[in-house]
Amino acid sequence: MKIAVLGTGYVGLSTGVCLSEIGHHVYCIDINEQKINNLRNGISPIYEPGLESLLASNMTAQRLQFTTSLEEGLNDAEIIIIAVGTPQGDDGAADLSYLEQAAKDISKYVAASSIIVIKSTVPVGTNEYIQTIIEAECGFPVQMVSNPEFLRQGSAVQDTMKPDRIILGSNDKTAAEKIREMYLPLNAPIILADIRSAEMIKYASNAFLATKISYINEIANLCEVVGANVEDVANGVGKDKRIGEAFLQAGIGYGGSCFPKDVKALLHTASLYQVDFSMLKETIAINDNQQKLLVKKAVKRFGDLQGKKIAMLGLSFKPETDDMREAPSIKIAHSLTQMGAEVVAYDPVAINNAKQVLGDIITYASSVYDAISQADALMIVTEWKEFTQLDFASLVKKMNHPIIFDGRNCLEEEQLKACGNVEYYSIGRPVIII
Ligand code: UDX
Repeated sequence: MKIAVLGTGYVGLSTGVCLSEIGHHVYCIDINEQKINNLRNGISPIYEPGLESLLASNMTAQRLQFTTSLEEGLNDAEIIIIAVGTPQGDDGAADLSYLEQAAKDISKYVAASSIIVIKSTVPVGTNEYIQTIIEAECGFPVQMVSNPEFLRQGSAVQDTMKPDRIILGSNDKTAAEKIREMYLPLNAPIILADIRSAEMIKYASNAFLATKISYINEIANLCEVVGANVEDVANGVGKDKRIGEAFLQAGIGYGGSCFPKDVKALLHTASLYQVDFSMLKETIAINDNQQKLLVKKAVKRFGDLQGKKIAMLGLSFKPETDDMREAPSIKIAHSLTQMGAEVVAYDPVAINNAKQVLGDIITYASSVYDAISQADALMIVTEWKEFTQLDFASLVKKMNHPIIFDGRNCLEEEQLKACGNVEYYSIGRPVIII
């Protein structure tokens, strides 16, 4: 099939590349010339494992093309997928301005037979609203399908190629059937719904997962005071199939481009309809508190942080991505430096993006060893696999004080015992002092 994808962010680019991988002819369109030029040269604007190799092979196979021209990209397109951003607006609502602009732009080139698919995360009612914009501009009826995306950063390719489910929401059976055919090579479960329910499925899923994280984080905080270990608790709880093991990893809270914004947007939708979804307010409040925990623990341990050198391992909001959006590292770096501490941070891929957000309030190290040298404490903020495999026994000897605050519960007792002399504080697990 001939497919055009608008927007080459995480969702648009991963979708475009993977649809070409399963045999479709895909044109990815973006207004950013620099991005498009880089993509034409096989350079991905985002760090995403496996993406660049698929980019190269599908461009070579001539199934994947990039353009800034809507006229070129939409020419002959049977399916137009809109995957532009819907960032958080001032009042917590999703900002639909990019989507509205995209709708107006495509109206000039859309054909009566083309199917318009919205993949961007959009509040209930948005597909119908966008349809009215396009129809008003082009002057004939168009077919819309809501197809929310569930890929995770860091595993975007794998999630797109092997999704748990594909949601197709449409009030038009033929249109939904055509999109089902587009996805058939993925061999994934496909769920058909009405257009509003499809929009709601996305928010309900993300808000549920965020709430699951806040729940286990509150349990972790309780475990600390009653002397239990949240890892054992999560393991025991998660074995119940009705609960499930995923998303029970306690830590310093969720971040990223989706959970924080989507929970707020759902809350905003509820308030528009005078529904008091107070549980989501708690999900947010718990997460805000959780992001402050490492600093609170450091203050409790040191009293005053003035002049203390803190080594920070990890800056991105989670491993396998360079994305800094809503990363807990941002709040932690600001708090520590406001209290007079010196922060030296290391991250395998996110340093360039971190510089855009944190500027020179912290120092950036080129290796873990540089960051940790002469540090008064170490804070683990992102659970990059390479951090868990470090030789902590020799690392802590380079520090002024062998004190570790682990915000992601990545270290095990055996690794700490090997250090000989160490103080270890994590989330919801007993303090270890050797
Ligand atoms: C999320 C959804 O998972 C995905 O379906 C949606 O399309 C976009 O939002 P993403 O933000 O890429 O994906 O990352 P995810 O792996 O879900 O993690 C989100 C945040 O939750 C991260 O900050 C992560 O550290 C945190 N998290 C996750 C926990 O704190 N504990 C967990 O058990 C799981």
